[in-house]
Amino acid sequence: MCGIIGYTGHLDALKVLLQGLEQLEYRGYDSAGIALLSGKGDDKFLIKKAGPVATLKDACEKLDVESHCGIGHTRWATHGGVNDTNAHPHIAGKVTLIHNGIIENYHNIIEKFGFRDSLVSETDTEVAARLLDYYYSKDPYEAIRKTIREITGSYAFCIMFEDIHDKIFCVRNVSPMVAAHMKDGSFVASDVTAVIPYTNRYFVIPEYQIVTLTKEEIFVQDLEGHPVSPEILEVNWNIEAAQKNGFPHYMLKEIHEQPEALRNTITPRLKDGLPDFSEDGIPDEVLAECEKISIVACGTAMYAGMVGKALIEPIIKIPVSVNIASEFRYESPLVDEKTLVLIVSQSGETIDTLAALRLSKECGAKVLSIVNVKGSTIARESDYVFYTHAGPEIAVASTKAYMVQLASLYLIGCRMAMIRGKFTENTARDFISRLSGASTAVEKILEHKEQIKTAASVVAKAKDAFFVGRGLDYAFSLEGSLKLKEISYIHAEAYAAGELKHGTIALIEENTPVVALATQDHIYGKTISNIREVRARGAFVILITKTGAEIPEDICDIHFAVPMSHDRFTVFPVAAILQLLAYYTSDMKGLNVDKPRNLAKSVTVE
Ligand code: M6R
Repeated sequence: MCGIIGYTGHLDALKVLLQGLEQLEYRGYDSAGIALLSGKGDDKFLIKKAGPVATLKDACEKLDVESHCGIGHTRWATHGGVNDTNAHPHIAGKVTLIHNGIIENYHNIIEKFGFRDSLVSETDTEVAARLLDYYYSKDPYEAIRKTIREITGSYAFCIMFEDIHDKIFCVRNVSPMVAAHMKDGSFVASDVTAVIPYTNRYFVIPEYQIVTLTKEEIFVQDLEGHPVSPEILEVNWNIEAAQKNGFPHYMLKEIHEQPEALRNTITPRLKDGLPDFSEDGIPDEVLAECEKISIVACGTAMYAGMVGKALIEPIIKIPVSVNIASEFRYESPLVDEKTLVLIVSQSGETIDTLAALRLSKECGAKVLSIVNVKGSTIARESDYVFYTHAGPEIAVASTKAYMVQLASLYLIGCRMAMIRGKFTENTARDFISRLSGASTAVEKILEHKEQIKTAASVVAKAKDAFFVGRGLDYAFSLEGSLKLKEISYIHAEAYAAGELKHGTIALIEENTPVVALATQDHIYGKTISNIREVRARGAFVILITKTGAEIPEDICDIHFAVPMSHDRFTVFPVAAILQLLAYYTSDMKGLNVDKPRNLAKSVTVE
């Protein structure tokens, strides 16, 4: 949450910052701002605006300044409304500051240091800026050290001091921040997307260490002033991967990247047609010895976990729970040394998921994380990491990350079943060959989008929509419903089809869209009966079945058939249909598909 960019070097800082903010806008888009040091005297320039980066860009058009050092920010508001004053950077005396995170004790700091009358914004960030200025007298390190000793909470700070013309200072706790140096200068950013146009080599700023960016180098020191050499990481994708490449929206592009993402995630884990995780460094004992599994995640990643549970529990026959990461710490989780905790996270930075990971480790559990972003905090803190290879996901609504999280859970489930004697080699081989067919099934959906647009034109007119299914289909419908509501703002709910008549069916009116998933043979008849119940009450039914299913007369208004013959694997093409349904609905309503209101891509506050 919130995008941070800082640059000092030989290039035009304004240009670098605005370009970086555009790349980072998916992290928060309430407001944006920049501060530049001119390099002459104590001149500094501050421009900040409520609204998207485009508004800031317009405001910067007339700015005539030569600067090679500056910081920029895109905001996702936590403290204080969305307005120019609350936007970052914040200036207090000689200090200019941008911040991602939440300072929990800012009220106490205001009282303790008597800042109340000097504050102009409602933000916790300005309090930190005041505190830095209070402690600053020529020694930036001393001021930073004293400030972070006073502060509790999470923060990634990027700081400039008015009388230090070409340096940026950074420090963080929990909230992510990376840094990179190349011949044109030094960069700091909340994630690598902003530095990728310049270099693919970067490092994650270690917590509680002070990083100094100069034109010539970046140096890192611990709080005692000892030099530190952080590990240099390399990104294996380039700037094209983070651009729209001719698609009108990132979301549509990312939906189309799914077949390749599936192949990239599955193929490297296969040896002789069977799953093998030796390259990932995941020993079989971890999968063989656990007595229960706890899948912990948020949002879409949690819904991938729901599918994982519905798949793995009946095969392995050990308890699998799915825990909402933000609740995990407060529900006395039944996690111990015999539990395998599967953490699922695209960004690897979701703070609630990270906190659940840390608690799981304290409880003695082994933690295996399914993560997309290399080197992210969750990846670094886990015992084992299963990287998904989706490439950068920019649209706030997760699509390709979900698809590869599913593929990873399927691979893990299959390997577990093999080594626990639940699958014979032949069964495992057959499972993998069907899983490998998922990319082709998704491709077929992407080739025939017209009918999905027709369905979207009906859904776009609705105020409510329902997604129903039984068993695995219910697990798939949870994500379908989230996708629709987050980008189309249509109230959508997922229900186990048999549960409707216990209350929810009261909401069905003439033409209420009901997306009915019926891809599971053993409960097909029962699901069809539930569909009849909503149909009888006037619902507009969009039915999804497997190809070849017998469709009773007049059971639906629109029918999609997914090209998957085995029940376990229908989620892949079904997910593609539901994603496209949400996409076209949002687009037809003229909404901001990639940046839906109130949301941000990476949720780094609790
Ligand atoms: O980065 P993570 O996978 O940990 O993010 C978790 C959720 O915030 C995320 O899946 C969110 O629900 C999706 N962006 C919604 O499409």
